[in-house]
Amino acid sequence: MGFETSDDAGVYRLSDDLALVQTVDFFTPVVDDPYLYGQIAAANALSDVYAMGGKPVTALNILAVPIDEMPEDVLLAILRGGASKAEEAGVAIVGGHTVDDAEPKYGMAVTGTIHPDHILRNKGALPGDRLVLTKPLGSGILTTAAKKDVIPPEQLQEAAMWMSTLNRAAAEAVLEVGVHACTDITGFGLLGHLLEMTQASGVGALLRFDSIPLMGGVLELAKEGVVPGGTKTNLKYLKPHLRVIPGLGEPELWVLADAQTSGGLLIALTPAKVDFLLQTLRQHGAQGWEIGEITAEHGLAITL
Ligand code: CO
Ligand code: CO
Repeated sequence: MGFETSDDAGVYRLSDDLALVQTVDFFTPVVDDPYLYGQIAAANALSDVYAMGGKPVTALNILAVPIDEMPEDVLLAILRGGASKAEEAGVAIVGGHTVDDAEPKYGMAVTGTIHPDHILRNKGALPGDRLVLTKPLGSGILTTAAKKDVIPPEQLQEAAMWMSTLNRAAAEAVLEVGVHACTDITGFGLLGHLLEMTQASGVGALLRFDSIPLMGGVLELAKEGVVPGGTKTNLKYLKPHLRVIPGLGEPELWVLADAQTSGGLLIALTPAKVDFLLQTLRQHGAQGWEIGEITAEHGLAITL
C-alpha cells in the first residue's frame, strides 16, 4: 500500500490471503503514573493496527529513559503497564530496545496480520455516509490542564480511562458490520483526521457540534485558554478547510482539533447500517456516537 492517503499503518502483502500490518508509536509521558503511562502508550501503539482492521500479533518495546536518574521501579512500572495492554490484546512482546535519554519516551513497534482484501482504509467514504466516533474528545486539553495543575487529579480519570482503552472491541464491531472508511483519532485531532479521510475519499463532511461527545470540563478549559500547543497548530492548519456557522468560536474549534492520545475510531458508513453499528459496538463493550455525515462538497462544515 502506498503513502498517498495517509493510512494508519503500513501494509505489505505476503500472499493472496495474508498481509502484514506494521506501525510504530512512542511519546513522552502524558500522565504522572508510570504504569498508566505504559498502558496508554501501548493502547495508542496498537490502535493503528485496529484502525486498519488488522489483528496485532507481536510488539517490540521502545524505551528512552534517563538510566542513571530514573528509579528502576518506575522504569519497570512503565514496561508492566505496556505488557498489561499487550496481554489484553493477545499480543506477544518479543523484544525491544532501550536508550539513555534525558526526557523519557515509551511506545511500541507493532506487527499485525490482515487479509489483503479486508483492509479498512481512510479512503472510501461516500456522500451521504454517516460518521460515527467511538471515544469522546478532550484528552489533549485535559492532560495539559493536569500538567499545569489547573484541574484536580480526579478530573483526569475520565481521560485516563479512555486513553488506556484498546480500540480492539470497536474494531471488531466495525469489521462485523462492514463500513466504507475507518481511521483512529490521534495527534491531528478529530478535524485533522476527518480532513485526511475526506481528502483521500474525494469528499467533504458536515459535523454537528452538539452531537460530538466531549470529556467532562473540556469546553470550559478551552474557553479559559487551557489548550496544548499541538492543538492550536492543528487548528491553524485546518482553518482554510473549515466552514463554521456563527456561534461556534475558537474554543469549540480547539476542542474539535484537540490532539488526542489513543483516541477512538472514526468510521464512515452507509446510513442504513448506523443503528446496527451502534448496537454492535455496545455488544462488544464499546461505545459509539453519530456525529455528522459525508458530503459531496469538499471541506469540513461545522454546525450546531
Ligand atoms: Co492512526
Ligand atoms: Co500512529
